[in-house]
Amino acid sequence: MAFDAEIRQALIEQVRRFVSEKCIPLEGQVAEKDEVPQEIVDEMKQLGLFGLAVPEQYGGLGLDMETECLVAFELGRTSPAFRSVAGTNIGIGSQALVLFGTDEQKEKWLPGIAAGDLISSFALTEPEAGSDAGSLRTKAIRDGDHYVVNGAKRYITNANKADLFTVMARTDPDTPGAKGVSAFIVDRNTPGITVGKPESKMGQQGAHACDVIFEDVRVPAENMVGKEGEGFKVAMSVLDKGRLHISAVATGASERLIKEMVNYAMEREQFGQPIAQHQLIQAMMADSQAETYAARAMILDAARRRDAGENVTMLASSTKLFACEATGRVADRAVQVFGGAGYITDYGIERFYRDVRLFRLYEGTSQIQQIVIARELMRAAKADQL
Ligand code: CAA
Repeated sequence: MAFDAEIRQALIEQVRRFVSEKCIPLEGQVAEKDEVPQEIVDEMKQLGLFGLAVPEQYGGLGLDMETECLVAFELGRTSPAFRSVAGTNIGIGSQALVLFGTDEQKEKWLPGIAAGDLISSFALTEPEAGSDAGSLRTKAIRDGDHYVVNGAKRYITNANKADLFTVMARTDPDTPGAKGVSAFIVDRNTPGITVGKPESKMGQQGAHACDVIFEDVRVPAENMVGKEGEGFKVAMSVLDKGRLHISAVATGASERLIKEMVNYAMEREQFGQPIAQHQLIQAMMADSQAETYAARAMILDAARRRDAGENVTMLASSTKLFACEATGRVADRAVQVFGGAGYITDYGIERFYRDVRLFRLYEGTSQIQQIVIARELMRAAKADQL
């Protein structure tokens, strides 16, 4: 559904104001305290951010992908920890239900997710199954009208606050690889679940990732999302969308960093003039702008194609690869333009440099995106569709 242009613009402006007036002033505090203040979370709920990608009939805003990306650009213009509060509800924590859930499952959980009253996390990664997600070992063995889940999940974003997990587990232990995997919605309060302490990370303080251990966790069979044995496809479809969203957040961060570096370069004087007048500084500003514009254009094109019903697996990986790598380069140049100040905590640039590093890792590393792109190219070639 194409979103009404005026409503879309009003939403984007509202989010932009929220980011500039409420989030940016708190960036240092959030990093220091490793926590996003509750009043910010409450305001995010009021803005509807938790329900951006939940259909209106379940209490969300039901944004199309293009509009979601436009909002994500805005959310990206501050520390990624703010977006992360609602990030799993917008993306990987809700989309298995949105894309594959039954009406009953949607009615049961989506309104809470959309309101931000239920925090939902995505539990795919394991200690031994990161990029090779299809090798996951967590088991879900049928026992009457339940499945009994045993296993360990790792680096699960928002696990410490989660009420629900989308858990990918092996329902057919005799079938190795992607085929024996199913997806389940698991209530955090089910006996047998232990959530570890948040990991100490390089950046993105205020956003948390933890281990989640499942010991004889009895999950009602009706909580399976999608068909038995199709959980890997559920996870991959969720990630196709998530990768577009993360690309947009990363690109928002690039836009913020460009603003910071240009403002600083116009103010800071060396050799008798603002450093922005020096051509080597100009080159860094210009390369950053050109790459960020390219990323933005790619993301919006891929998003529109997804909205039109196209399969965007290759395009989502292309945007994730290009946009997140570009943000890494932009952050590096921002430190360079700031010089010594770029390395000093008070200026916040070194914090962004550390924060954006994660974009090239989570929801699939850059190398996984390369593999997906290459495989899709070969698939298309075989079908004579290149
Ligand atoms: N959509 C739908 N189905 C898909 C798909 C997609 N995008 N990608 C693959 N599939 C299907 C395939 O068609 C195949 O089905 P068939 O056998 O019926 O054809 C099945 O899934 C298996 O696919 P592959 O053979 O391609 O599987 P693979 O084992 O070779 O793995 C991979 C492919 C791309 C490497 C995949 O494992 C992958 O994406 N790995 C990265 C995992 C990842 O992104 N992890 C991030 C975790 S989430 C996170 O970071 C958030 C957080 O909380 C921190």
